[in-house]
Amino acid sequence: MIRLDKYLADMDMGTRSEIKKAIRQGMVKVDDVTVKKPELKVDADTQKIAVNGKEVVYRRMEYYMMNKPAGVVSATKDPKEKTVLGLFKGQRRKDLFPVGRLDKDTVGLLLVTNDGELSHRLLAPGKHVDKIYYAKIDGEVNSEDADAFAQGIDIGDEKLTLPARLEILTSGKESEIRLTIQEGRFHQVKRMFEARGKKVIYLRRESMGTLVLDPQLREGEYRPLTEEELKKLC
Ligand code: URA
Repeated sequence: MIRLDKYLADMDMGTRSEIKKAIRQGMVKVDDVTVKKPELKVDADTQKIAVNGKEVVYRRMEYYMMNKPAGVVSATKDPKEKTVLGLFKGQRRKDLFPVGRLDKDTVGLLLVTNDGELSHRLLAPGKHVDKIYYAKIDGEVNSEDADAFAQGIDIGDEKLTLPARLEILTSGKESEIRLTIQEGRFHQVKRMFEARGKKVIYLRRESMGTLVLDPQLREGEYRPLTEEELKKLC
């Protein structure tokens, strides 16, 4: 059982005080009966809650796949920048957060959820979850770079990077690559190429563990995970 005002606040229907006011003003119905007590306990699994006649379904956990566009930061709040959460429209939980960070100019797969346990399982350093990136590099990427990445390289941290798999898709003045890493250090891909004297000019995350970016999602779009994606991820 959960307090009615918390139920509605969790589902991002307003601030706690706005919600209390709305309840006292008679805008909220529980099982089709107007209630005026914000502290009323409701059963989120069986009772029907409606605000201004519109049902608000309670979801304990939400999972979305987003194709993050460039120009927004992977944060829940930011005083200056647009955030990935600002791209969400309509009803959603208010405690969503992005799992891990992509740089402001990086695009691609971002999981957004309120499941802290799953986030920990995907991000904890000991878990070694594969993250696959596609990148365009200013410079000619060669097999020596691939060998160096496979050995682990010094990017200025205490430890070398873990062995990473570099696939060279095209090589020339500008190269295209796919890189699989198992860590998520700050600016890791960019710093790995910098350490080889090369610059990442475009970076897109394609997958994280079993979760693969849906090619139907355009940049800035998101959708709930399918049951199958969720099952594999968990
Ligand atoms: N590595 C980077 O350098 N940037 C990202 O956004 C993700 C991985």
